[in-house]
Amino acid sequence: MAEAEIGLIGLGVMGSNLALNIAENGHRIAVFNRTTSRTGEFHAQAGSLQDMVVPCETIEDLAAAIRPPRPVIIMVQAGQAVDEQIAHLRGVLSENDIVIDAGNANFHDTMRRFKDLENSGLTFIGMGVSGGEEGARHGPSIMVGGTEASWKRVEKVLTAISAKYEGEPCVAWLGTDGAGHFVKTIHNGIEYADMQMIAEIYGVLRDGLGMGPKEIASVFATWNKGRLNSYLIEITASVLAADDPKTGKPMVDMILDRAGQKGTGKWSAIEAQQLGIPATAIEAAVAARVISSLKDERVAAEKAYGMGVSPVSGNRDAILADLELALFAGKIAAYAQGFAVMSAASEEFDWNLPLPTIAKIWRAGCIIRSQFLDTIATAFNAGPVANLLMAPDFVQMMKEANPALRRIVARAAEAGLPTPALSSALAYFDSYRLGRGTSNLIQAQRDFFGAHGFERIDADGAHHGPWGSGAAG
Ligand code: 6PG
Repeated sequence: MAEAEIGLIGLGVMGSNLALNIAENGHRIAVFNRTTSRTGEFHAQAGSLQDMVVPCETIEDLAAAIRPPRPVIIMVQAGQAVDEQIAHLRGVLSENDIVIDAGNANFHDTMRRFKDLENSGLTFIGMGVSGGEEGARHGPSIMVGGTEASWKRVEKVLTAISAKYEGEPCVAWLGTDGAGHFVKTIHNGIEYADMQMIAEIYGVLRDGLGMGPKEIASVFATWNKGRLNSYLIEITASVLAADDPKTGKPMVDMILDRAGQKGTGKWSAIEAQQLGIPATAIEAAVAARVISSLKDERVAAEKAYGMGVSPVSGNRDAILADLELALFAGKIAAYAQGFAVMSAASEEFDWNLPLPTIAKIWRAGCIIRSQFLDTIATAFNAGPVANLLMAPDFVQMMKEANPALRRIVARAAEAGLPTPALSSALAYFDSYRLGRGTSNLIQAQRDFFGAHGFERIDADGAHHGPWGSGAAG
């Protein structure tokens, strides 16, 4: 049998789907799973793709089946399992072979692994893969970090299996070591913000306007035809329209309001803080998931306060139009934050991240895919800007959309409806667009109690205030 082009370890749902995608696109793939019966099962179920799959009982067999330099994708749970597989592969692979971690790894781990493997003659790719199970099978968005030489070895396979946006493959080499996993992390941070803002709007529709799931589904379905057109809006409409087979009630009403999280959103927020970049909508979305998990406390607090939610009154069509535009404005702010974090990380870690390319490879395949990302790619391609909010097209869009965001956040606040991500997005926008803020007072306070000094508006250097001997307490 001809040599395999690539190998894959870990035949869970994502690994299996990725392997079938590779096979289907004409590249022979060697596969290995720790529980060997799974490998046989996978091969047996590969149908017409069986000839393109080489089932291997040991990692040694896997290595022997692949054309050198051998790329081996690891698709196992992020964390210790990845290190275990790497340790195992180290003893089997040879000089210049490429270990590819396709899980949702913390990019700091990726940087460590990259360095460790470099020292041992192997090379490492940290590869962000977005699109869930469907994407893995039929075309994900792929974010690659590693050496350019290792990318060249796998470029053909990854290009073949990636999603395509108007014919353009949604895969790119984004930089060395942790670049790919970092970009995937920020993708997920933005995903958190996007999802949270959609959920907040759903809350206004459900609790403020008293609409039922089916009615709300049709609102989202309509919005999906306009500027909000995206995968997340599309699936929101589908989710809201679905019934629970068990009870016949709307499925969404039978789901406990307690969100899970695997960590990538939190990593985005932590990294934004580390880099000194405000990513308030992402942070708010992470915090909202945490608050959601405090179900028992929330139920007790509802009893203690007994306030409930007031209806949002007014012309329904006008409110719906505002909600659509508010969501769009919130989205702009959240993406501006995510891209600002990537821009800062690019400098910090010397990655030279290509922001227009990142926007382009997110246009299809990934969870946040949308038409909107094409607009972002165009804006970044037009020339560098300090922040997406400063790209001329976005200035126009935000001028048009921010009044609606303001009205919705204000109405929601009055009604007692929480909109943490939308209101953070608005506060971010307002803080960003004002040349004169209020931190002169913060500086005065810092100087008063800590003699930290401040800059004057009319002179250079550090200065102190006339606080006298009562200061520095
Ligand atoms: C994707 C998703 C994917 C996964 C996340 C969800 O891009 O395909 O983001 O990576 O669904 O793990 O993350 P949470 O479990 O943290 O919501």
